[in-house]
Amino acid sequence: MAGWKKIVRTICVIAALTVGFATGFEQQKRAGARYLAGARARIKVNAVDLPLFRAFPSLADKITRVKILDWPTKLKSLSRLEDALYEEQGLSAPERPRLWVKRDDVSDSLYGGNKARKLEFLIADAIESGATTLVTSGMYGSNHALATAAVARAFGFKSTLILGPQPVTPDVRRKLLTFRALGAEMRFHSGKVGMGIDIEKYAMLGAWPRLTGIYNIPPGGSNELSGLGYANAFFELVEQTGMDGLPERIVVPAGSLGTAAGLLVGSCLAGAWERVRIDAVQVADPMFTNEMALRAQAQDVYDFIRGKLSKADRAKLPKCDFGRSGRALKFTTAYYEPGYGAATPQVHDAIKLVKDVEYITVEITYSGKAMTYFLDEARRAIKERGTTPRTLFWLTYDSYDLEKVIETRQWSHPEMKWLDLPKDFWPLFKD
Ligand SMILES: Cc1ncc(COP(=O)(O)O)c(C=O)c1O
Repeated sequence: MAGWKKIVRTICVIAALTVGFATGFEQQKRAGARYLAGARARIKVNAVDLPLFRAFPSLADKITRVKILDWPTKLKSLSRLEDALYEEQGLSAPERPRLWVKRDDVSDSLYGGNKARKLEFLIADAIESGATTLVTSGMYGSNHALATAAVARAFGFKSTLILGPQPVTPDVRRKLLTFRALGAEMRFHSGKVGMGIDIEKYAMLGAWPRLTGIYNIPPGGSNELSGLGYANAFFELVEQTGMDGLPERIVVPAGSLGTAAGLLVGSCLAGAWERVRIDAVQVADPMFTNEMALRAQAQDVYDFIRGKLSKADRAKLPKCDFGRSGRALKFTTAYYEPGYGAATPQVHDAIKLVKDVEYITVEITYSGKAMTYFLDEARRAIKERGTTPRTLFWLTYDSYDLEKVIETRQWSHPEMKWLDLPKDFWPLFKD
């Protein structure tokens, strides 16, 4: 008899937990739905006017986007920088400009940089999924986490950020305060294992957005869908330069790989395959950020796009060998050390040079390392051949005004704002 009682009690506890769990989510979902109703009225969901969709119109039947970025972003020559590089070697530039920058950091949008191009597709998908909370992950100073929290607020979603360890700098602290000011739920992790488990947990919950309210965005925001952002960006570049004016090389930082993978796919779809080399500069853990993973991600994006096309559009789709081509991709590992979020004196010098000469802001974790590679390659070419290949630096960093956002919150202790963060984060603010 005692055995039966135990079984009945266990069943009751499981049932109560299940109902509580489901209603909790149901309440969260209802609250979120109200929140979304207002925001959605302002949302423009369309895909048709993108250059990629003009080339493959049937994509617009299957894929939607919200507008975040004002494109085309500016394409600028780096003539002053070029002069400075020649002057370093006592030369003057024979023919310029041969160095350019694509300024994804400058747009009148809510949030620029490379995250905006990815989030345009992810947010549209999240809206369609019925979710109310965007969940994503990154290191304490993650630009992707920042972009997600900013965009979530603008589109009426709640946000949850799973945050893991990286070297703590003043910029990282400012980001953490900004996450709070943007209203994000912040989940602290001191180690990568615990962080990985948390990511998996939310990935599982994200499989049922209508039940859980959760839309899961992978680290760095890179997947097959968001890959369309930079595939389209390549078409945007072609519209600006024409096929004949395309650069020989495009330099980008490689973290979660979506930016470089998207550009590779874009160059294939635009028929520029192997005429433009994507120089991807590794800036994150080689376990995930490596050449094989980048080539595989490009293939996934390509297959995803192919799967969405009508028969007629599919017939005009160029075929490209993402697995092998050495002329379409160069993957550089030499600029990662001393590790994620830390930089050598050379990176600091590169950051200062482009700031002084071109008034461009790059940072140590991503764009500063890619810029160091860009400068090294230009210097080497000038020394060896007296000129540089026509090279484009794709600026993926948005120097978003963190202070302005931080000041929007009523902090309970304005002198020690960090006291408003979850307790686990407090040690990161002590010297
Ligand atoms: C400024 C900046 N550039 C480049 C990257 C890397 O892009 P991806 O993750 O698409 O490789 C990131 C990623 O967070 C970033 O914040």
